[in-house]
Amino acid sequence: MQDIIIIGAGGQAKNTSLVIEQCINKQTNKPKFNILGIVDDDTSKTNQILRNYKVLGTIDQILKSHNNVGFVFAIGSSKAVEFIVKKIKTYQSNNQNKKFSFPNIIHPTAQITEKEVTMGKGNIIFPNCIFFSEITMGNFNFFNRSCSISHETTIGDYNFIHAGIHLSGQITIKNKVWIGVGSTVIQCLTLNNNCTIGAGAVVIKDVEENAIMVGNPAKLLRYKTNNK
Ligand SMILES: CC(C)(COP(=O)(O)OP(=O)(O)OC[C@H]1O[C@@H](n2cnc3c(N)ncnc32)[C@H](O)[C@@H]1OP(=O)(O)O)[C@@H](O)C(=O)NCCC(=O)NCCS
Repeated sequence: MQDIIIIGAGGQAKNTSLVIEQCINKQTNKPKFNILGIVDDDTSKTNQILRNYKVLGTIDQILKSHNNVGFVFAIGSSKAVEFIVKKIKTYQSNNQNKKFSFPNIIHPTAQITEKEVTMGKGNIIFPNCIFFSEITMGNFNFFNRSCSISHETTIGDYNFIHAGIHLSGQITIKNKVWIGVGSTVIQCLTLNNNCTIGAGAVVIKDVEENAIMVGNPAKLLRYKTNNK
C-alpha cells in the first residue's frame, strides 16, 4: 500500500480522496493507497479536516517532514500544478534521500485497456471514464467522471477534462487545455495549448492557443490575456 498526500484543500480534495479510497488492488483485494492527509499553502487551512483527512501543513513543511510518499493533485489550475511539480522535483534533486512520486490514480470503474492506453505519471481518472484504442497520454492530466475518449487520441500534459465530455477519434489535446463539463469534440481536431472549452460546447474546428470557445457550434468568446 502506497502512502499518499493530496495537494489542495478544496472541494476537489473531497472527491479525490473518495476516488483514492476506492482504488483496490485486484490481486490482494486490499486498498492500493493510504491517504496520510492533505497539504495546502494557505496556512489558514492547516489542521482543518476535509472528510476524514487533516490538512497537515504547507508543501515546504511536508517536503521536509515526509519521505516515500506519492503526491496527488486536487487543484484546478494547470499553472499551479506545474509550479508545484517543479518545486517537488527541485526539492528531490537537492535532497537525494527523499523519494517522492506521482502515481496514476485510476478508479476501478474506469475502462482502460493497458495495451491500448499509454500514460506517464500523475494522471487522475475518475469513475466511469471510458478510454478506447491507441490512446497516448502524458503527465498530470485530470479526467472527471464519465468522460469518453475515442481511438488514436493524443493528450499532452496538465490538461483538465471535466465530467461527461466526449472526445471523438484522432484528436490531439496539447498542454494546459481546460474542457468544461459536458462538452463534445468531433474527430480529427487539435486543441492547442492553454485553450478553454466552455461547458456544453460542441467543438467542430481546431482551437487556437489561448482561445476560449463556447456554444454549439463552438465559437470564439475571447483570447486569454496573461495566460488567464
Ligand atoms: C467558458 C467560461 C470559462 C467563460 O467564463 P467567463 O469568461 O466568466 O464568461 P462570462 O460568464 O463572462 O460570459 C461571457 C459570455 O459568454 C457566454 N457564455 C459563457 N459560458 C458559456 C457557455 N458555456 N456556453 C455558451 N455561452 C457561454 C455568456 O452567456 C456571456 O454571453 P453574453 O456576453 O452574450 O452575455 C465559462 O462560462 C464556462 O463554461 N466554464 C466551464 C465550467 C465548468 O465546466 N466547470 C467544470 C466543473 S469545475
